[in-house]
Amino acid sequence: MTSPRPRVLITGASRGIGHALAVLLASRGWEVIGVARNVPGTFPGQFIACDLVSPGALAGLAASVADGPALTGLVNNFGLARHEMLGDVTWPEFSSVLTANLQPALQLAQAALPGMRAAGHGRIVHVTSMVTRGHPFRTSYAAAKAALESLARTIAVEEAGNGITANAVAPGPTATELFRVNNPAGSPGEHRYLAQVPMGRLADPAEIAHAIAFLLSPEAGFITGHTLFVDGGAGLGR
Ligand SMILES: NC(=O)c1ccc[n+]([C@@H]2O[C@H](COP(=O)([O-])OP(=O)(O)OC[C@H]3O[C@@H](n4cnc5c(N)ncnc54)[C@H](OP(=O)(O)O)[C@@H]3O)[C@@H](O)[C@H]2O)c1
Repeated sequence: MTSPRPRVLITGASRGIGHALAVLLASRGWEVIGVARNVPGTFPGQFIACDLVSPGALAGLAASVADGPALTGLVNNFGLARHEMLGDVTWPEFSSVLTANLQPALQLAQAALPGMRAAGHGRIVHVTSMVTRGHPFRTSYAAAKAALESLARTIAVEEAGNGITANAVAPGPTATELFRVNNPAGSPGEHRYLAQVPMGRLADPAEIAHAIAFLLSPEAGFITGHTLFVDGGAGLGR
């Protein structure tokens, strides 16, 4: 009897890091389920159109995860960034960024965990950011990403006895649409980021995808509760 293919759900999978991860995992034999608002032209697996910021749509997606076949992996990759100085942030904006970044990760993990427990195996990865170490203009985004890293550690401790690991991957600046919208080529934002990266370049989305894929693998079974910075050395000496 052949063992079933590992099954992964990736949020924010239509482009950027999420899409690169989908392509990589599919090439390694994973059954991939992607989620984003818009279905991409090509995708190596099933794709579910869902606005993760809509509570009703998110609840529907979570219900389908809970009712479906167990996931081997869950990658909470979707994230929402805002450019702002701390002094300008209003509470409604701050809490809306926290909600957008945290609610899908929380509810999808809650939906996936019972199936993972029953299977005695599971991998959860949250995609966070190097900005959790401190970065100007990222007040609410950095707070949300730091909370995601904390959430991974809580899941790690609570589920350690069930064969389930939870970790975070914190990318440095990565050449995706999200980065370019906030930091056009030659902009002060791009300069600020590159000045922090000893390698002096942006990451390729595939470089972040490989780190996530490692934490999803059976070989990473003794690693849990970690945040893996994939940042070209940006954290060094800080
Ligand atoms: N790029 C960087 O420099 C960088 C650095 C550190 C951390 N990160 C983190 O890495 C993750 C991926 O970023 P990325 O740069 O790959 O982003 P990206 O290229 O902009 O892709 C974002 C993905 O999220 C989807 N998305 C956006 N809004 C959505 C919503 N309301 N509901 C469902 N899906 C939605 C997009 O598709 P649709 O528009 O079709 O919905 C797309 O698939 C994020 O968590 C980000 O914070 C990125």
